[in-house]
Amino acid sequence: MDTSTADQRATTTRPAGPLPRDLVDKGGRPFHARLYTRADRYALEEMYRAFDPKRRAQGLPPGDGESIRRWLDHVLAAGTHVLVEIDGEILGHLMVIPMSDDASELANFLHQAIRNRGIGTALNQLAVEIARAEGRQRVWLSVEPSNRIAIRSYEKAGFRRLPGSLWAPEVEMEARLTPEPDPAAP
Ligand SMILES: CC(C)(COP(=O)(O)OP(=O)(O)OC[C@H]1O[C@@H](n2cnc3c(N)ncnc32)[C@H](O)[C@@H]1OP(=O)(O)O)[C@@H](O)C(=O)NCCC(=O)NCCS
Repeated sequence: MDTSTADQRATTTRPAGPLPRDLVDKGGRPFHARLYTRADRYALEEMYRAFDPKRRAQGLPPGDGESIRRWLDHVLAAGTHVLVEIDGEILGHLMVIPMSDDASELANFLHQAIRNRGIGTALNQLAVEIARAEGRQRVWLSVEPSNRIAIRSYEKAGFRRLPGSLWAPEVEMEARLTPEPDPAAP
């Protein structure tokens, strides 16, 4: 993940076509995916404060409250941010951040209480829909090779590894987007 590459053209409250969405995890348990608003800021900080383990995904999320605040100031300044809400509690954060006119970067963070239930895979699919609705042609991400659960969730959502050095510290992955078919087309 390298959210430092994001440009500053998008806003966090921009409407995204596929949202809000009521979904179910692999066990049929419901979760709600909706856009982040400024009113969620404190609850999102709280989620990251309780996040475990910290700094495991390329050093993120940061370890202490002040670093979390600074990091959120930076990432929330651009892109589309989606929250996972269960029983009124914010337990997940998906970021779809524009890198260029044709590409967005994806990152997601789920609280430890809701991992390995298919929610990350569903968020990856949502990210693809969001990027497509925003006119991008590809979604890119980087992940540590040891993060098997993340890599598997990206593969399940259609992401493929980009060719890279065997010794590279990160795996780069990409989903190529095709435009939605135009129902009015002959
Ligand atoms: C990475 C993350 C977003 C994935 O979301 P998730 O909801 O936990 O993942 P999913 O349940 O959708 O999919 C995980 C898949 O990996 C598999 N898996 C779990 N542990 C695994 C392991 N050690 N090795 C290989 N596969 C593994 C699961 O079985 C599942 O595949 P399946 O459905 O075919 O059985 C989430 O775990 C998370 O937030 N982790 C901490 C932060 C992080 O690493 N973020 C990514 C930054 S790049």
